[in-house]
Amino acid sequence: MSNKKRIGILTSGGDCAGLNAVIRSVVNAASLKGWEVYGIKFGTDGLTNRPLQYEILTPENFSDSPWPRLSGSYLGSLNSGVKLESMEELSKRFGEGARELELEALVVIGGDGSMNIVSNYCHKAGIKMVGIPKTIDNDTPITDSSVGFATAAQVCCEALDSLILTARSHNRALILEVMGRDAGHLAMHSALAGMADVCLVPEIPYKIDSIIAKLKAIKASGRNHALIVVSEGVKREDGEHVSASTNKIGETVYGGIGQYLSAELNKRYKEFQTRVTTLGHVQRSGHPLAFDRILATMFGAKAIELLDAGLTNRMVVWKNNHIADYDIDDVVKEGTTLLNPHSDYVKAARACGMYVGEE
Ligand code: F6P
Repeated sequence: MSNKKRIGILTSGGDCAGLNAVIRSVVNAASLKGWEVYGIKFGTDGLTNRPLQYEILTPENFSDSPWPRLSGSYLGSLNSGVKLESMEELSKRFGEGARELELEALVVIGGDGSMNIVSNYCHKAGIKMVGIPKTIDNDTPITDSSVGFATAAQVCCEALDSLILTARSHNRALILEVMGRDAGHLAMHSALAGMADVCLVPEIPYKIDSIIAKLKAIKASGRNHALIVVSEGVKREDGEHVSASTNKIGETVYGGIGQYLSAELNKRYKEFQTRVTTLGHVQRSGHPLAFDRILATMFGAKAIELLDAGLTNRMVVWKNNHIADYDIDDVVKEGTTLLNPHSDYVKAARACGMYVGEE
């Protein structure tokens, strides 16, 4: 056995832009301290499956490689959730796996759900853990931004820039359905940047009649086209979720609200034809923006600083333009961070004349 400190790193949950920049940063900072880094494959699966799946990572892996600049996860990730009844067995296997690899600590790049599950595993296994928030939904508590969000918003904004051109050619109201689960951050940022006319988010109730009133006003102003952004977590007017399917553990997979909206608008207002674009998983794989790469690099460096100071169960955050860290239990207690209907984002959208739901 080597007497060097050995840590693991894994990516958990849906992938996004900037994950590989985090991995590079952690590996480089750890290596400067003389530590070994084991990259765990496919999230916690790499430690709970047998044989164990991992790869020893060194700065050389990334110094002459395109990976740090790319989206996706070099290590692979796991986005299937965990059934409660499987928790105990998985936690046991995780602990055995971590002990077999002689990991002293683990850096977990994930969303709030992953922070909760993996911090419990680590606690039981007696290994230290630091979390790094990433998600295109930007719904991880306390941090102002998670790795991957800015790039996803850019992908949506570019989609709107494309859609406006064809909308104009064909007198259409084009609907863009974006991801975000129950949080409207991605939809609101996309609509603001892409200058949409309507933005529907799960946090604010809406009326189809009000959307039609907005379209009529656009028509009356002499404009023959419009852009509508809808977040996948928005419910139908009757309060029911539109959902395409369920995942492996039975959670609802959202999708389809754009089609519902299109059908309703076509039924009730004939002046604009509607069509729907569902962006789907391209939102997770945009070319990482500078902001996400920088955040990733600062988060990775901070994670190693915390582990070097012997701290555990911390999540690094970006708060008021500074890197800080919080107890993961406090992060988990906060639950998912939703879009504040009274935020400056919503105010600015309304001030521009965007319909963002009922006031
Ligand atoms: O949490 C990230 C996210 O992209 C959500 O916005 C979306 O609802 C979900 O993951 C999609 O998950 P999957 O990759 O399992 O389809």
